[in-house]
Amino acid sequence: MIHPDIESIIVSEDEIRQRIAELGAEISRDYAGERILLVAVLRGAALFMADLARQITVPVEIDFMAVSSYGSSTKSSGVVRILKDLDEQIEGRHVLVIEDILDTGLTLKYLLKNLASRKPASLEVVTLLSKEGKQRVPISCKYIGFSVPDEFVVGFGLDFAERYRNLPYIGVLRPSAYQD
Ligand code: IMP
Repeated sequence: MIHPDIESIIVSEDEIRQRIAELGAEISRDYAGERILLVAVLRGAALFMADLARQITVPVEIDFMAVSSYGSSTKSSGVVRILKDLDEQIEGRHVLVIEDILDTGLTLKYLLKNLASRKPASLEVVTLLSKEGKQRVPISCKYIGFSVPDEFVVGFGLDFAERYRNLPYIGVLRPSAYQD
């Protein structure tokens, strides 16, 4: 059943499940014979990581980073701060950064520069969503789940003011939901 605050569903639960299975297969082929360190960017990407990791057949380890992003507003500030760093060393390892959504790209640009300086064997990005025509900085993102229109979306890890992360689909909020 659709949540009363959701105006429309952009990506359904079935579509997400199917696409994650495809991404998992593609990643497993690309990293055949290797081990991968999956690095999820908290908090939004945690749900995507949980499902994606289970579709990858090569050995994976997981780690997490937290960076500051929007607070409860819906505009990118461009100010990025590391709130939680990795527990693992990444030098010489194959690192796959997992993002929920690529919007302006400012967050990832900062993160990738930071991680690259630690000399991983490889460094790639998988994002569940990418906003069409929105990237302000060029990011090389090897795996993209879905391109979505430039609207504020919630669900499957994505929040508005920490709400709606548990919706099993990606949807657009009704304007009234912003007023609570
Ligand atoms: P960027 O730095 O502009 O690419 O922003 C990336 C981060 O902003 C994402 O990891 C999300 O946490 C957040 N974000 C961007 N767009 C949305 C959206 O439509 N819904 C929810 N969060 C978003």
